[in-house]
Amino acid sequence: MKKLWAGRFKEETEKTVESFSESVSFDARLWKYDIEGSIAHVKMLSRQKIIPQKDAALIMKGLLEIEAEIQSGKFKFRESLEDVHMNIEYALIKKIGDAGGKIHTARSRNDQVALDMRLYLREEIGTILKLIKGFQKVIVSSADKHIDVIMPGYTHLQRAQPVLLSHHLLAYYEMLERDRGRFDDCLSRTNVMPLGAAALSGTTFPIDRKYVARLLKFPAVSENSIDTVSDRDFVIEFISASSILMTHLSRLAEEFIIWNSEEFRFIELPDAFTTGSSIMPQKKNPDVLELTRGRTGRVYGHLVSLLTVMKALPLAYNRDMQEDKEPAFDTVDTVKSCITVLTRMFPKVRFNRKAMNEATLSGFLTATDIAEYLVKKGMPFREAHSVTGRIVKHCSDRNIALAELGIDNLKKFSKLIGRDISHHIKVETSVHEKKSYGGTSKKLVQSRIKKIKSRK
Ligand code: ARG
Repeated sequence: MKKLWAGRFKEETEKTVESFSESVSFDARLWKYDIEGSIAHVKMLSRQKIIPQKDAALIMKGLLEIEAEIQSGKFKFRESLEDVHMNIEYALIKKIGDAGGKIHTARSRNDQVALDMRLYLREEIGTILKLIKGFQKVIVSSADKHIDVIMPGYTHLQRAQPVLLSHHLLAYYEMLERDRGRFDDCLSRTNVMPLGAAALSGTTFPIDRKYVARLLKFPAVSENSIDTVSDRDFVIEFISASSILMTHLSRLAEEFIIWNSEEFRFIELPDAFTTGSSIMPQKKNPDVLELTRGRTGRVYGHLVSLLTVMKALPLAYNRDMQEDKEPAFDTVDTVKSCITVLTRMFPKVRFNRKAMNEATLSGFLTATDIAEYLVKKGMPFREAHSVTGRIVKHCSDRNIALAELGIDNLKKFSKLIGRDISHHIKVETSVHEKKSYGGTSKKLVQSRIKKIKSRK
């Protein structure tokens, strides 16, 4: 097939080169944005009298017909036409003849592809922002529902101090809040109109870029034509924000896998979100969580892949940049599907308050509270730490919990220890007393929930 750019070529493209270099097999996904961008471009060309109005009308009609054909599945994308842009332009010319050949006036595929990617990512970022918000919502309502459940908080995966389950869950809310901030920020730099940079230096036609930006609802127009066609920062930023989001989803997945284990039994995952083993009948495997954790690696890979593609490219456009598509698309798909499935699963997770509570009783979780008790009675913290350490060792050697030691025995460790110590070694007291801003006391956690819920 004769290529749209074949003018200066004597030979046809090698078959292997066609399939080697085509991108339509994956960039066809940009068709909607390609048509939207072309319509805005053509409106501008006609308004600026760069092409006759009647040609513009024909072009728009043709593009809308092509849109309908693609939507209904009738349109045939052809590998020999390389990419989505040329497939659509070729179909337009075939449909309306010479007028179709005017669509590419004052435009290059270099600024066209930048526009398509920006329109595409802008929309997907919007969707992802909504999905994150939806996930935050189920986390907060679960935190609200389980406000009385106390569990061990961990450091080094060792029982450390008692915390509210709600406080632990809300930690994920905060991570996701930062994720939303990152996507929002990335959106502001994605939402810049690139068309008009043409191949790299701008165009001699009297185009009106601001008008195109208004039509396509871009709040800004890019400043430098060379930068415009060589910039993929916005895609890198998007995958970077996605990588951090995936880190958070993966950590949650990992915790739930651990909590769901026979060893912990802190949660029970809903049947509908687990799978059986083909050989071991007793198994209920947390595959959704494992796949979320596993797919995090893909997104990280895409980030490194695109950074590497871009790192040594001389300005301006280079074909290497076509390699931004698959990483970007797969990142979008992965992120959306992971949040969606986790959001559906989360409200159905059963939290085992008894197992969590029992786990707070052993492991000397209130040892820090004893030390702080002694400090409040006048002992320097380092000494209090060492006295408490001796108490813990004493209990540990005898295989008993702090609460089982008894006041009289406790008093032997320091004359500063009084009867009121029994109150301070309770996990409930420990949680209740964590009143420093951001701490785990029920009052603070409740007020955080209230504040979150009052936001729109
Ligand atoms: N398919 C190309 C890409 O994704 C479109 C731009 C092609 N430009 C060019 N000069 N070959 O980057």
